[in-house]
Amino acid sequence: LASSVGFCKPVRLEATQEEKDRSVQCCLPAPRRTPKRFQLPRVHHLRVRRPAHELANDVEYVNKYNLAYERMNALPADDPRSFLRQWHTHCSFCKEAYLQRRLNNSATGYPLQLHYSWTFLPWHRMLIYFHEKILGSLIDDPDFTLPFWNWDNQLDATAGQIPQIFLPYQQSTRWPRQHGRHGKIRNTFLYEGKRRNPNHMPPKVLPLTFDASLEKERANWTHDQIRHANLGQVYEMVYNKVSAREYMGGPYDTSSNFTEAVNVTVGESGGSESLHNTAHEWVGMLNNTAYPDNEDMGVFTYAGRDPIFYSHHANVDRLWNVWKALPDKITPDGHRVRRDYDDYDFLETEFTFYDENADMVIVKVKDTLDSRKLGYTYQPMVDADSLWINHKP
Ligand code: C2O
Repeated sequence: LASSVGFCKPVRLEATQEEKDRSVQCCLPAPRRTPKRFQLPRVHHLRVRRPAHELANDVEYVNKYNLAYERMNALPADDPRSFLRQWHTHCSFCKEAYLQRRLNNSATGYPLQLHYSWTFLPWHRMLIYFHEKILGSLIDDPDFTLPFWNWDNQLDATAGQIPQIFLPYQQSTRWPRQHGRHGKIRNTFLYEGKRRNPNHMPPKVLPLTFDASLEKERANWTHDQIRHANLGQVYEMVYNKVSAREYMGGPYDTSSNFTEAVNVTVGESGGSESLHNTAHEWVGMLNNTAYPDNEDMGVFTYAGRDPIFYSHHANVDRLWNVWKALPDKITPDGHRVRRDYDDYDFLETEFTFYDENADMVIVKVKDTLDSRKLGYTYQPMVDADSLWINHKP
């Protein structure tokens, strides 16, 4: 894909009808050097991503994480590692800003859209991979890892809440010691408080079946009802999706899914992506007059501007690993195995990202499939995972 990217245009905002023609410029700065091929890192030991709800007490970690964002925010706009360009990366590849050249090199192209297909998991994996590398390099900690927002965990009531790490002190119900062994917790660069939905603060737990239009009806759901529905939803979207197509999404098809004329995408999302959508909609906010474009997690354009986005995607990424390790299931149409696609078109698909040296690298999907080869893994959440794995409806 990426090597044939030819054009970039502003993306349209999606809020209200009248505003539908407003746009935002998310195009990335041009590379300073010729892009190089991504090389798998030499792995001496695996970096371990830990759950966000268990890190709220870790003053040293929170402060480091915050400092990394402070420095990322301070980078100039022409630096692709800057926070601005980091969220622009999501904005541009998820809102069809870039056009892929047609073979005849005509002046039109296919809009690139990394959702709604088998590109969803590999592309977001690498987006947060480089994001994490950049954060680590800004604080001279090559072992730095993003925390994952463990919303599928129904064992610990705090796991599915907006993690404390991402909340200002005032909105938090349980910041631990404000002055710990390592001093005061500082996290001012980790929240986008104003633009999130104020009705979804702790102790509210993310309902994985969230549907804004049913919110009133479900207002009286008890915590137990939410928990039960959540387990059923993860069972359905992860355990019950057996083939690559069901879990990862359908093939990327420029000829039928991506029509420049209407600038909309009708692809085929997998269980992974469907499950992940609710967190976006629940954290973001609709119909806020101060932020008419729903400028938080709720829309593609702005989702990456909230640091919780990268932590949310770490959990999506973790569940991909969990899914692959789940026992096989025999379905009526015969024995099928949970594994990634092995189609040539899938494995050879290319993306470009900026790395921690601000260099553009070209990554092939086949290099993204094993997180261990990329040098990281996840803290196992065995007890919490087994709850939904065994939650047959
Ligand atoms: Cu590109 Cu969670 O979305």
